Amino acid sequence: MGKLEGKVIVITGAARGQGEAEARLFVEEGARVVLGDVLDDLGKEVAESLGDAAIYVHHDVSDRASWDETIARAESAFGRVDALINNAGILRVGMIADMPLEEYQQVIAVNQVGVFLGMQAAFPALKKAGGGAIVNISSVGGLAGMAAMSAYVSSKFAVRGMTKCAAIEFGPHNIRVNSVHPGGVDTPMLDPLYDPADRGGEASNSIYDSVPIGRISAPVEIAKLVAFLVSDDSSYCTGSEFIADGGMMAKIPSG
Ligand SMILES: NC(=O)c1ccc[n+]([C@@H]2O[C@H](COP(=O)([O-])OP(=O)(O)OC[C@H]3O[C@@H](n4cnc5c(N)ncnc54)[C@H](O)[C@@H]3O)[C@@H](O)[C@H]2O)c1
Repeated sequence: MGKLEGKVIVITGAARGQGEAEARLFVEEGARVVLGDVLDDLGKEVAESLGDAAIYVHHDVSDRASWDETIARAESAFGRVDALINNAGILRVGMIADMPLEEYQQVIAVNQVGVFLGMQAAFPALKKAGGGAIVNISSVGGLAGMAAMSAYVSSKFAVRGMTKCAAIEFGPHNIRVNSVHPGGVDTPMLDPLYDPADRGGEASNSIYDSVPIGRISAPVEIAKLVAFLVSDDSSYCTGSEFIADGGMMAKIPSG
C-alpha cells in the first residue's frame, strides 16, 4: 500500500517542474490528484498521463474565484480534499533601485497572496474531511536575502511566516501546515537565469558546485519531502520549516 493511499491532494502549479513531480509521485503512492495551473496544454497532458487518478483544472492562484472553482472541482471529482500543496510560483529578477512596482506586485500576488487565498479556500474542505495537511513551498529565499530578488524573497519570507500562523489557527481542526525551502531545483523556473543547455541534474550550473552536496536538486527530491509532509508519517509536524538545499544554508562561504 502506498504512503498516500486514498488521499485527495490539490497541487498548484502542477503543469511542470516540482508540481508535476509531486503529482506523479503522489499517484504512485496511491493518491488522487487535482492539478492546477495556468499552462493548460502542459497541465492537461500531465493529468492525462496519470489516468483516472488525476484531473486538470485551469487555476490562477492569485484569483479567489479560481480557487473556489478548483476546490469545488476536487470535491465533485473525488469527494473530498485531504491536502493542498501551494507550489505555484514565479520569479522576477531586478534590483530594488530599478524594479517596477507592477513587477514586484505581480510576484507578491502569485507567491504570497496565492498561498493565503489557497489556505483560506481549502480550510472548509479540509475541516469537512476531518483534517489534513497543507504544504507551502517557500525557498531558501524565505530564509535569507539575495541581491536582485527582493520581490521573490519578500514573498517567500511571507509564506514562511503565514505557514506558522495557519499551523496555530488550523491545528485544533487536525490540519497540519508546514513550509518547504528548496535550494536550487532543476526546473524551467531557472531558465531565465541560467543557460537552459546547462540544465539536467548533476551536470547542472556550476553555482551549485559549492553547496555541500555539490549539485542542483532534481524535482523528485523535493517531491519526496512534500510527500512525507502530506503523509501520516509526519503526524506530529506542524508550523515547521523543512529545508532541502543540499546544505546551502549550512555553509559560510569561505572563498
Ligand atoms: N526551481 C528552483 O530552484 C526553486 C527553488 C526554491 C523554490 N522554488 C519554488 O518551487 C515552486 C515550484 O517551482 P518550479 O521550480 O517547479 O518552477 P516552474 O516554473 O517549473 O513551476 C511553477 C509553476 O507554477 C505555475 N504558475 C505560475 N503562475 C501561476 C498562477 N498565477 N497560478 C497557477 N499556477 C501558476 C507555472 O505555470 C509553472 O507550471 C515555486 O513556488 C518556486 O518559487 C523553486
